[in-house]
Amino acid sequence: MTKTSASQRTTRYRPGLAWFAAIGTLWVFVLVFLGAFTTSTMSGMAFPDWPLSNGSINPPGWLTELDKFAEHSHRLSATLMGLITIVIAVWIHRTDARLWLRRLALAAVLLVVFQGVVGGLRVLLDGMHVNMVNTSVGRLFAMLHACLAQLYICNLIALALACTRPWIERPLPLAEGVRRLGITCCVLLFTQLAIASVVRHSFAGLAIPTFP
Ligand code: HEM
Repeated sequence: MTKTSASQRTTRYRPGLAWFAAIGTLWVFVLVFLGAFTTSTMSGMAFPDWPLSNGSINPPGWLTELDKFAEHSHRLSATLMGLITIVIAVWIHRTDARLWLRRLALAAVLLVVFQGVVGGLRVLLDGMHVNMVNTSVGRLFAMLHACLAQLYICNLIALALACTRPWIERPLPLAEGVRRLGITCCVLLFTQLAIASVVRHSFAGLAIPTFP
């Protein structure tokens, strides 16, 4: 295998990579929709095994029964998302001179693999109860899975954005204060999402029946 030398990498705009990353990133919305659909229809345990679904990649009933369709299509779309992420990361690694971008691409691959494993553990550990929080280990993994999804989506969108022509050719100077404000907003938003994930996966949405 030939090694990419540092001199072969540049920061110039690459239309092929930019379009592939942009279209690949659109797929994440299909994937997340199917994940949310799985949770909303309570189909998370439609198949009790993983990585196969009832021991198959084409399990009977997945095109005719709603719960099986939700869960299996989510698993299939996640597999495709993993492959897309690997292609983007290898492409960036071989051609792009920006070290931070190559690191971000590697983080995306690690995140998508970890996310897949957490999704699998959500299923495999569903029967293990934790008395202290009165839920199953599987459900705790579902909460983590919902949070990690947000991190992964943002990581992927950042990769796609960094490959666009305006980002490369017309970088905007950013004041330190704006940068810090942006980071603070992201941390606050993520905290809110994490709380929402706990509420959603512990069915606490109507624990307080009045508003405000
Ligand atoms: C790799 C990329 C993946 C992403 C970005 C992703 C994302 C999501 C999202 C956003 C949800 C909805 C969470 C919610 O509504 O609170 C979800 C649910 C779910 N995902 Fe994934 N997922 C991925 C891979 C997988 C894989 C490989 C599995 C394998 C079993 C899996 C299993 C599940 C299950 C079982 C649920 C429903 C959890 C429940 O409601 O109990 N996911 N996923």
